[in-house]
Amino acid sequence: MTMQENDLPAAAITDARTFTDDAALHGMLARLRRTDPMPRVDSGTTAPFWLVTRHADITAIELDAKRFVNAPRQAMLPLAYEQRTRAATGGKGYQDMMRNLVAMDGSEHRVYRSISQSHFLSKALNVIRGDIEGLATEFVDRMAARGGACDFSADIAMWYPLRVIMTILGVPPEDEALMLPLTQQTLTSQDPEFQSGDPAGGMTPMMRMFDYFKPIIADRRANPRDDIASVIANASIDGAHLADRDVFGYFLILATAGHDTTSYSLAGGLLALLQNPDQMAKLRADPTLVGSAVDEMIRWSSPVRHFCRTAAEDCEVAGKAVKAGDFFLLSYPSANRDEAVFDDPFAFRIDRKPNRHLAFGTGPHLCLGQHLARMELTSFLREFLARIDHVEQAGEPRYVEATFVGGVKNLPIRYRFR
Ligand code: HEM
Repeated sequence: MTMQENDLPAAAITDARTFTDDAALHGMLARLRRTDPMPRVDSGTTAPFWLVTRHADITAIELDAKRFVNAPRQAMLPLAYEQRTRAATGGKGYQDMMRNLVAMDGSEHRVYRSISQSHFLSKALNVIRGDIEGLATEFVDRMAARGGACDFSADIAMWYPLRVIMTILGVPPEDEALMLPLTQQTLTSQDPEFQSGDPAGGMTPMMRMFDYFKPIIADRRANPRDDIASVIANASIDGAHLADRDVFGYFLILATAGHDTTSYSLAGGLLALLQNPDQMAKLRADPTLVGSAVDEMIRWSSPVRHFCRTAAEDCEVAGKAVKAGDFFLLSYPSANRDEAVFDDPFAFRIDRKPNRHLAFGTGPHLCLGQHLARMELTSFLREFLARIDHVEQAGEPRYVEATFVGGVKNLPIRYRFR
């Protein structure tokens, strides 16, 4: 399978509408990988940056965390949005009010990450495996209650991972209807459907989450339990409790990073299975392939569209002279279709091996929730396949308009239970 290359300019990577057309996005990225793998983009709508398209270059940048740092910039958002956020925080940016792992570097990052890291390792997650399987059952029940048709993305995929991470953070189910729009307005606020109309550039939903988590944090400090929320709320560094803004930053990064990423992989993965009926049949015939199918769903959907790094010194990258302070946009969807790494990268293969995708990044910031995400997807897919014996598309999928995190936001399907 090959990809039809197109002549979209590299600056299209900053246009949220590009991400609503998977073929156009990948046609552009395939051409760039072949002809100009690290172009300079200076379109005026965002800060200028180097667009890194090849798997090898992204890996090299992420592994050299001394030379390519996270602190000044994590995402490449429209200048107008960034100016509104700065204005709403008196010129300081939101980091002054809360800090999180993705904005930290070096030993500070290591120390903060180690507060929760052991709880997200696959062995530690075994404690909550039963809960996750229970939630998977509940959400497949929800499909049954819908009577044979639903918008799989909006009705099911968006809610299940949200429920998992909110359970971990101590948010009761009745408050999830509040948390979904707040997290979407924070992460995918470019999409017209998810906009809060916030003149403060995303600060208002963030502040509402801050207010929401305050009593939960206070409760976990007063009555610590055996859960991740208590671990973070009571964490101390050098004998002192974390500052409130740091605890909130931790809750916020887990609340936002921890669900729609997984939701988009679930919805995009199901769409890929529906578009490749031979792969669906293969999976039904051999359920032991669920694990590798989940990784292929994640590679295929690459819901994190990019993260950024900043050069700490003048250097050469991919044959280009880079100056200290230059920004890089690491295109994970591009890395995950790189012909130099993947055999037939535009084929969706549930038994792909090896599958060295970069959807979770690599290096010191490698996704903290990767094992949790895999466990959620595996549990859901097992339950879904065991109980639903026929499923088909019932309409055209629609993609989120967003340059940072996104994927399939509407997926109408029809299905039949056994
Ligand atoms: C970081 C992707 C699910 C929590 C990241 C990064 C990516 C990513 C690309 C940045 C890596 C880098 O800079 O090298 C994904 C994808 C997911 C997913 C594709 C689902 C399919 C989750 C879940 C959680 C989570 C379920 C919940 C715990 C985090 C955190 C970080 C992170 C806390 C920051 C880590 C750090 O900076 O040290 N994720 N993620 N993610 N992710 Fe995920």
